[in-house]
Amino acid sequence: MRYSLLQSTLVVFLLIPIRLLSQLAGEEALGSQSYENFERPEACGASCHVDFYQQWKQAMMSQAYTHHWDEIEYFKLAIPHAEKDPKVAGVKAGCNGCHSPMAFLANDIPPPKPEAKSRANESVNCDICHTVTGFKGDVPHNFNFISQPGRVKYGPREGIVSPAHETRKSDFHKSADLCGTCHNEMDPYGLWVKSTHLEWKEGPYAKEGVPCQKCHMTYAPGRSASMAVESPDVAQHLFHGAHDIGKVRGTVEVRIHPDIRELEPGERVKFTAALFNQKTGHKFPTGSAEERMLWLHVVAKDAKGNEFHLPVDKKGFTGEEYTIAANTLAYQDMGIPLDIPDFKGVQRDGVPEGDRIYRLPYLDPQGRMTIMQWNTASFGPDYRIGPRETKLETYTWKIPETAAPGPMTITATLNYQKLPTPIAEFLGVPMEEAEIIEVGQHFTTITILP
Ligand code: HEC
Ligand code: HEC
Ligand code: HEC
Ligand code: HEC
Repeated sequence: MRYSLLQSTLVVFLLIPIRLLSQLAGEEALGSQSYENFERPEACGASCHVDFYQQWKQAMMSQAYTHHWDEIEYFKLAIPHAEKDPKVAGVKAGCNGCHSPMAFLANDIPPPKPEAKSRANESVNCDICHTVTGFKGDVPHNFNFISQPGRVKYGPREGIVSPAHETRKSDFHKSADLCGTCHNEMDPYGLWVKSTHLEWKEGPYAKEGVPCQKCHMTYAPGRSASMAVESPDVAQHLFHGAHDIGKVRGTVEVRIHPDIRELEPGERVKFTAALFNQKTGHKFPTGSAEERMLWLHVVAKDAKGNEFHLPVDKKGFTGEEYTIAANTLAYQDMGIPLDIPDFKGVQRDGVPEGDRIYRLPYLDPQGRMTIMQWNTASFGPDYRIGPRETKLETYTWKIPETAAPGPMTITATLNYQKLPTPIAEFLGVPMEEAEIIEVGQHFTTITILP
């Protein structure tokens, strides 16, 4: 009897903190906070966390709301679309859940445009990440982090004393799940339109205990604050990804070889290209895969300098046409938010016809390719390169009669683009978003006999 009384008292005491902790997350957290509840990044970075502040400032994390392409996509496409199609109405607020979490939590929807210089511009700031205590549900996605702003800041270490705030150790900050709350996105049609964390989870790096932080917040000796003691492994706030040329270069190694070294014009040769993804912890491309393209361009050059473009051999899988560059139109669904009736679309690829493209095609409810990821009702074939995966491509080619005798060099170049040029031109996105980055290159030589 006594025991059970004690037990129920204990239960009551235990329930209080549990109740406090069961905070709102994801869509239900809309309007649950105000801007004033969060510290400004300048307050963290002015004199204490000087280096982290400067690193964060030049990372995409601090520009997730202000970055020009984000502004265009949100204000020109997402908001008008949300206002027209009830199925996607939720994105008007929802985009901000990840791109400007404070604005979302404060129900400042839509937030003022970046030029207004409101606090929405702080994007993913220090105090969002460092007052998160966990996530709600089974799978981190769609900003389902639990935000508990206040004096306590959560970080990776035990026993840190700061004059500015209390500090508590949080294993969540060492885990990929924190990143997953924003780097997995399920759209209104129930599809994973962003799945960087899920791709990582089913790949080799998760099994080896290598979370996102090990590649995107690399560790170096130093101080985490100006008054802190030295540590051998301070997490750098670099968050370098697709917008960092150095991060992208060398991601995939390219090798190409022929099946025969000497042949005459009119004879057939088969080249095999091997592409090994040695660097990413997830697929490549990942994240905003609806607009990312990686393509292999193979060119033969004879002894006289004549160039021949080699188209890739077809493999014959369903939907393969999306993975071979073609002269075709796509993205017609942009006509809905842009008020262009019967919009014909723009060029789908803008890269040399016949080149193999490594991508995941996102298809709208009418089955047309889309870059409006929230309007995705199905996918084409996932032809991206997984972590540590090797993909092989073949190029069967009849040597043209016009080829000059002597050595012939065959060069395979793997290029990457964040946004296809035709879309950037159409929407007026700064052309640097469509910059072509060379990921890798290799060449081999054959001899053309007279
Ligand atoms: C509150 C949401 C949120 C959380 C949590 C978050 N991110 Fe991000 N992250 C974003 C958004 C939004 C962007 C996109 C910025 C843009 O391009 O507009 C981004 C961009 C990035 C980029 C740059 C991508 C590029 O295109 O260059 C990297 C790398 C990255 N995040 C890694 C991480 C890692 C690692 C973690 C966990 C430690 C993490 N993120 C946690 C929202 C978040
Ligand atoms: C083994 C190292 C490694 C691990 C682990 C890793 N990444 Fe990456 N990540 C890379 C490299 C290299 C790139 C650059 C190539 C690219 O853009 O995909 C990259 C790119 C990115 C980008 C930019 C993608 C784009 O197209 O804009 C994001 C966002 C990102 N990573 C987030 C994460 C998150 C979140 C995790 C954990 C779930 C993670 N990464 C784990 C190496 C890693
Ligand atoms: C996207 C989320 C995110 C943002 C934004 C962010 N941090 Fe962090 N921060 C982390 C994570 C995750 C760790 C722990 C990484 C680890 O140890 O693996 C961390 C670690 C730290 C640490 C402890 C470093 C150490 O190794 O002891 C400090 C201090 C810190 N952050 C301050 C800041 C400041 C200041 C800002 C803003 C200028 C900021 N953070 C922005 C996620 C973030
Ligand atoms: C679940 C979190 C989440 C939601 C919701 C979300 N995004 Fe993002 N968004 C991200 C992350 C993370 C990245 C960075 C991924 C990467 O680098 O590949 C990103 C990248 C982007 C980019 C930049 C792509 C580039 O080329 O750099 C644009 C534009 C964008 N989002 C617009 C939107 C719009 C518009 C919405 C609402 C319809 C939206 N996002 C909803 C997390 C989210």
